[in-house]
Amino acid sequence: MYRLKAPLRVLKSIVGPTTNSSGPLTRAGSTIFVISRSKHTVPDLPYDYNALEPVISADIMKIHHDKHHQAYVNGLNVAEEKFEQALKDRDVHSQIALQEALKFNGGGHINHSLFWTNLAPTKDGGGEHPKGALLSAIQKDFGSVDDFISKFNTTTVGIQGSGWGWLGYNKSNKRLEIVTLPNQDPLITHVPLLGIDVWEHAYYLQYKNARADYLKAIWAVVNWKTVAERFATAQ
Ligand SMILES: [Fe+2]
Repeated sequence: MYRLKAPLRVLKSIVGPTTNSSGPLTRAGSTIFVISRSKHTVPDLPYDYNALEPVISADIMKIHHDKHHQAYVNGLNVAEEKFEQALKDRDVHSQIALQEALKFNGGGHINHSLFWTNLAPTKDGGGEHPKGALLSAIQKDFGSVDDFISKFNTTTVGIQGSGWGWLGYNKSNKRLEIVTLPNQDPLITHVPLLGIDVWEHAYYLQYKNARADYLKAIWAVVNWKTVAERFATAQ
């Protein structure tokens, strides 16, 4: 499962009386450890904005990474702050009301953080077909890499509105499977290996409404090495 790097800081604190529903937890002057979560941040792109050209333009990459991903991170930090307060207040109603914001912004952060590493410039191996265990698994479950790409594109182009196409590893049947999800829903039923963003912000400046053309082109910059690494740790 993909995990975000959300560093935790452990702070040693001297606190006064603290209670919960079952009674006092500590006494004045006692020492406890308080865990404080650092705010999420947008990870740096592992290549230059223009490194994926001509498949994805520098303009798209800059806006997508600096504006859209940043917006999900901002939204996630706000939602987490509100959720932490709701937990402190034991306000279950607010905790439930925040679930959608956490899912949308947290999913947006998870998905985009993975997406940047799922791509690579051609000079760094982008587009080079998988080898080894990942290739064998693709051949077993889809016939060939080209057959997989064809099926993935046919499935993903049909997403209504905004969403993502995924190659995921299903741990229960030990198979690779194609999954589509709407909005920024993160893939949690499978181990996410490769995600392709088909929100219009990912391609419209360059491909206009031709989502199929974007999907056809993007395989020239897919970083199969990271997909293979994720597959190796998923099993
Ligand atoms: Fe996006």
